Amino acid sequence: MLVGVVMKEGIKMNIDKIIDEMTLEEKAGLLSGKDMWHTKGIKRLGIDEIMVSDGPHGLRKVLDGESESIKANCFPTASALACSFDRSLLERVGRAIGNECASEDIAVILGPGTNIKRTPLCGRNFEYFSEDPYLAGEMSSAFIKGVQSQGVGTSLKHFACNNQEHRRMSVSAEIDERTLREIYLAAFEAPVKNSKPWTVMCSYNRINGEYASQNKKLLSDILRDEWGYEGLVMSDWGAVDEREKGVYAGLDLEMPGSMGKNDKAIVEVVRSGRLDEKYVDKCVKRVLELVEKSEFKIGDVKWDKEKDHSLCAEAESECIVLLKNEGGILPLKKNEKIAFLGEFAKSPRFQGGGSSHINSYKVTSALDAVKDICDVTYAKGYITERDETDKELLSEAVRAAKEADKVVIFAGLPDSFESEGFDRKHMKMPNCQLELIDEVLKVNKNVIVVLNNGSPIEMPFSDNVAAILESYLGGEAVGKAQVDVLFGTVNPSGKLAETFPKKLSDNPSYLNYPGEGNTVKYREGIFVGYRYYDKKEIEPLYEFGFGLSYTTFEYSDMSVSHDELKEDQLLTVKVNVKNTGSVKGKEAVQLYVRDTHSNVIRPEKELKGFEKTELMPGEEKQLVFKLDKRAFAYYDPKISDWRIEYGRFDILIGSSSRDIRLEKSVYVSPQKEIKEPYTVNSLCCDIIENPEGKKLLLELLGISDEAESANEEYKIISLGEMPLRSLVSFVPIKEITREKIEDFVKKLNLTLLGEEND
Ligand code: BGC
Repeated sequence: MLVGVVMKEGIKMNIDKIIDEMTLEEKAGLLSGKDMWHTKGIKRLGIDEIMVSDGPHGLRKVLDGESESIKANCFPTASALACSFDRSLLERVGRAIGNECASEDIAVILGPGTNIKRTPLCGRNFEYFSEDPYLAGEMSSAFIKGVQSQGVGTSLKHFACNNQEHRRMSVSAEIDERTLREIYLAAFEAPVKNSKPWTVMCSYNRINGEYASQNKKLLSDILRDEWGYEGLVMSDWGAVDEREKGVYAGLDLEMPGSMGKNDKAIVEVVRSGRLDEKYVDKCVKRVLELVEKSEFKIGDVKWDKEKDHSLCAEAESECIVLLKNEGGILPLKKNEKIAFLGEFAKSPRFQGGGSSHINSYKVTSALDAVKDICDVTYAKGYITERDETDKELLSEAVRAAKEADKVVIFAGLPDSFESEGFDRKHMKMPNCQLELIDEVLKVNKNVIVVLNNGSPIEMPFSDNVAAILESYLGGEAVGKAQVDVLFGTVNPSGKLAETFPKKLSDNPSYLNYPGEGNTVKYREGIFVGYRYYDKKEIEPLYEFGFGLSYTTFEYSDMSVSHDELKEDQLLTVKVNVKNTGSVKGKEAVQLYVRDTHSNVIRPEKELKGFEKTELMPGEEKQLVFKLDKRAFAYYDPKISDWRIEYGRFDILIGSSSRDIRLEKSVYVSPQKEIKEPYTVNSLCCDIIENPEGKKLLLELLGISDEAESANEEYKIISLGEMPLRSLVSFVPIKEITREKIEDFVKKLNLTLLGEEND
């Protein structure tokens, strides 16, 4: 039931009865689209067709027979939105987009995209949130909640491991189970469980050899059986390989359809007895449930494009990240002589190319927005069509820079550098823009660079310019947001949702991207993004979670609810944050967890919470975080489950991943210690870790008395990493035979694990 909106009663369908009345051909037909954007209807059974539409940072509704989509508001892309670290903002943006969809009779908007940013080169990174699964999951969950509160569905995409555009329709992402669960699937798991997207879109690629579109482990075993997902799974456009296998695996709807060819294939496998019709029925049921859900309409929906344009600006101003501000050069003052340089000041790059491209309602550039504040001089400086210096434009810009007190250069990546459908080859900005920055610096040191790009870039100028603002691809009102932040009308509060490495070769995927032929091995494992840079002690250009403000914040009074925590208890962490500067500001406080001792290799720290708060000068607030058992667990493929090891965990509170301000420890004990049975190959050092095991081993070695055992301690320590079976050769005790060791193993298992063991 939707809260706070008027619902028109939809048609309650008797789905089981409808399925009973359907012919096999009708069922198979329902499992693919009618065209690019519609499902099929069946008149005689009262089944309506529904329309789905691209997004997700706006509505891309394409009308029949048209090539261009309708005019719509283009909100900041996911790459920008994630920097807000603000769930409520994502929900608001989602609500606005959901409302737009409802007013245009769109049943499902195709997004959000929650794939992990494995490499900065992925051409589609601008459509994704983060390198961190927790942040990506939280952002997607909030966005989905917002859209779906308007009676419109979402399609969480691209499930899964679509982390590069290079060979996206054939490449197999080869990933070990722990990495898959902890990094790549976790970004989907949270939104599936918390926000219940109406649909999930499977990806184009293969995962460990099997196409996502026919991957039963992914679509049924994990998504449905483990995570409890009840919605529909649709294919990405053209992602189907063998449709029958897809039906068996749980792919309900093929989009956009195959002009009936795959429908016939489904009929044929069922008739020939190779596929039980019950699998077809399951898919049909889920299609019908989606149609039924979308019959419920919200009454009196109005799409106010001006209002949503303002929201585009407001949202982006919460996302812009201030990366550098030497000597407090920003904010700018109205009475200063200011030059705006660069084509992006006049025609900003605010969204990416491909299926998410919105036909924007209107665009506000920085040059438009600054008119309300003061006069600035403008020079174009460079062209975006080619990476070629236009000498005249360059000299004109340098002349303008000479005359100015402060120079703002709008730069970044042009469309030709990044888009859906291909990956970048490098992380560099166009040379013509770099040359502009260099030449301007020769005549004016007060240079502020404002960036528009969908993914990290190398910044050879970072030491030389006075300030840097990262605005990502910030939507149609990006210019208004940039001007608001430049002049301090809005105090910047965005924080990076991904690491900016100094150079491409620092990136963890560097040696294993883009793969060989149709295979890409994720050999860096769980060490994606800051998990890698931290562990390897590689200093990034700007770290995950980093972002400056025009004010300062002080952290204090951290407390944890437990010193000792049982696995099933919640840990409450409290911390105070105070605005110690002279202007109002917002701070995104981050919580990381570090496992201090572990038998498996774990990251240095992992993000497990964040809260953003607004504070007036001098104001102090308490922030509260709740951590459940998952915050401490790693995925153990041996038990096919999440596992916590007993021990000390540090809770770190920071302003970024490398600016940890406060920390406290907590001991966490698992509900049940999961122990592996001992064998003749168990190592002595592992056995003596357990006091009872140590006692038994001493007995075996003929050291029984306590005083003697203290004396002889060196003996068992020297056995160290020797397996039990080797005692036969290395301990000069005749009675220690293989049989005796086998008996000893049985005794160990019985005493320590309470298990009989052969
Ligand atoms: C993209 C999807 C998109 C679909 C429909 C595909 O090529 O990967 O993200 O939703 O096209 O346009």
